[in-house]
Amino acid sequence: MDLKGRDFITLADFSEKELWHLLELAKELKGKQKKGIPHELHRGKTLAMIFQKSSTRTRVSFEVAMHHLGGQAMFLSKKDLQIGRGEPLQDTARVLARYCDGILIRTYSHQEVLDLAKYADIPVINGLTDDYHPTQALADMLTIWEHKGVLKGLKLAYVGDGNNMVHSLLIAGAIMGMEVVVSCPEGYLPDENVVRKAQELAEDAAKIKIIGNPREAVKNAQVLYTDVWASMGQEEEAAVRRKAFCGYQINSELLALAAKDAIVMHCLPAHRGEEITDEVMEGPQSVVFDEAENRLHAHKAILAAVM
Ligand code: CP
Ligand code: NVA
Repeated sequence: MDLKGRDFITLADFSEKELWHLLELAKELKGKQKKGIPHELHRGKTLAMIFQKSSTRTRVSFEVAMHHLGGQAMFLSKKDLQIGRGEPLQDTARVLARYCDGILIRTYSHQEVLDLAKYADIPVINGLTDDYHPTQALADMLTIWEHKGVLKGLKLAYVGDGNNMVHSLLIAGAIMGMEVVVSCPEGYLPDENVVRKAQELAEDAAKIKIIGNPREAVKNAQVLYTDVWASMGQEEEAAVRRKAFCGYQINSELLALAAKDAIVMHCLPAHRGEEITDEVMEGPQSVVFDEAENRLHAHKAILAAVM
């Protein structure tokens, strides 16, 4: 399957077959790395990485992925680039495209990523916007597949904020044939356009559901997922949000209502004691560090496929 030259901006741009291709490739590259088999598919290639928000996992895993692929990654923060002094994104896009082989961008506005992709004639990868986090959701699918052996038919229950993370999980789950049940407090629901899009993408629209009561939502779920109550850029709302999200925490009591062998996921960074308890995060059902590791393998697959 040839995905060369494709942007990786939202998972909705990919078919179920294409996502499976990326997951199989991630599995293959993970196997090679574990066995010490070189996989320098991108020798001499460069990935520009623009970060307008903080990052541990995305930055480090993409940088290491490029290294393993035999190429290099260039970390560019807002203050390093002339963007910080007002140079238009469309000019930056065209200049970077003359030097590099791909651009990863983490920023606030999703439109900015679309604009960058419009002007850069090299693949653009979305490393998180206020609306989506597709590279994380691909790594999550890999993690679920590894732990459960399948994706189709599994129930994933997301409890917490209706943010970028749940948007990407809704899209990923719908394409892969999962049941995705989302439980958020009133006023913090996912964007209804994204929910509609997921319902359109799903074979059965009824499998994409919003259920206010988290205890109801997690019943028999094989995957429990949560994310921070206040995302990057929402720090000032943190106190108000803490009150609103009370009861939307993944704790032992909630976990007991899920399937017996349910796995617990979190994209990290986590705020222990808020959206997840320390006990659950450190407990036997938590796969959060496998999930974090899989960012590396999933990113390598994205890079290998599109660049
Ligand atoms: N999950 C994730 O994207 O982590 P970082 O913000 O550390 O990149
Ligand atoms: N929703 C979080 C995800 C961090 C990886 C944020 O946007 O800050």
